[in-house]
Amino acid sequence: MTTPKETLWPMEPHTKAKHDILRRYLQAWFPILSRYNGRIVYIDGFSGPGSYSGGEPGSPIVALDAAIEHRRALKSEVVFWFMDERADRIEHLRTTLSRREIPPQFRIHVECGTFDRAFGSALDALDSMGSAIAPTFVFIDPFGFAGAPFKLVERLFKHPKCEVFITFMVDSINRFIEHPNAEVVNRINEMFGTSDAADVAKTPENRIDRLRMLYQRELRKRAQFVRYFEMRTRDDRIQYYLFFATKNELGHLKMKEAMWRVDPDGAFRFSDATDPAQLVLFGSNVCAGLGADIRTRFRDAGETSGAIVRRYVENETAYLKKHMTEALKEEEKAGRLRVEATKHGGQARRKGTFPDDARLVFL
Ligand SMILES: C[S@@+](CC[C@H](N)C(=O)[O-])C[C@H]1O[C@@H](n2cnc3c(N)ncnc32)[C@H](O)[C@@H]1O
Repeated sequence: MTTPKETLWPMEPHTKAKHDILRRYLQAWFPILSRYNGRIVYIDGFSGPGSYSGGEPGSPIVALDAAIEHRRALKSEVVFWFMDERADRIEHLRTTLSRREIPPQFRIHVECGTFDRAFGSALDALDSMGSAIAPTFVFIDPFGFAGAPFKLVERLFKHPKCEVFITFMVDSINRFIEHPNAEVVNRINEMFGTSDAADVAKTPENRIDRLRMLYQRELRKRAQFVRYFEMRTRDDRIQYYLFFATKNELGHLKMKEAMWRVDPDGAFRFSDATDPAQLVLFGSNVCAGLGADIRTRFRDAGETSGAIVRRYVENETAYLKKHMTEALKEEEKAGRLRVEATKHGGQARRKGTFPDDARLVFL
């Protein structure tokens, strides 16, 4: 898609999937974080105009509606900060927002400006006051690769309880990475926060994968949990990745749940980020690879527990507990897993379940 010039543009099919992930995640994120914090902050650094030419809601409205829907559970102040460099889009967003009834605990700031400058200045101000930022979710959704320098992501992760959701436009990066204009290549380097992208450009093989892995590697240096969702065009070309990075175990789990809901059988190639080489199998094979992976991981460990395997699956793979249960059922049926007799909550373990206190031996 070429970068639209008009104020509103038609919504692409992927955008709907992106918004679905965002909505589902925020429906969990807002109530969880507001339970324990006096203030939480949602930043949309590339907000757009708030709607598409067909009338569909834009990302600021998706986020705001997710919070409005849960307003009774939101005891804390919820700050929304929307910014876009285009005055016409910001004006349209303001008009769209003015039609919404805003709960009293919500504060909405709408700003015409570039993400780099506005968010950079906010971080400068916090640094100079020595203050920590409230728990913050930052959505970085540019059309291309300009204006989203990695140094801002890096600075954000110096604060606890912050997370990012980033559209990583790998297709345009791949097209421009050998551009003769050094300024263009510089922007790409800024987006990665390292000039290693230039090395990736030297060979054409698997360049998309290697660019993704480089970005993933940089994010992983700052945040323990990194997930991505692959967006392909109709002709099956990878257009962009949606990256999510957090230091929070529960946030990670909630994002995985959101991604699996949007893509229960893998049409968008929800992939594993912890081990960049590991493929996730989809459709009827969803759990086949997971069983083998768990067995390989724990076979030499002797006896292990349901809790240890669950934490591995939840924290280090793309899968959820329900996938673990399916995979372990298959392993047990095939005689590759022995479950030692155990009591769970005073009751014998039910066949086909793998509670935290189950004792597991992989054969
Ligand atoms: C992909 S669109 C955003 C769509 C929106 N997030 C949504 O999902 O509905 C990118 C937006 O970023 C704006 N933009 C481009 N460069 C920017 C920058 N450096 N800082 C802030 N906004 C920028 C564009 O005007 C455009 O509205």
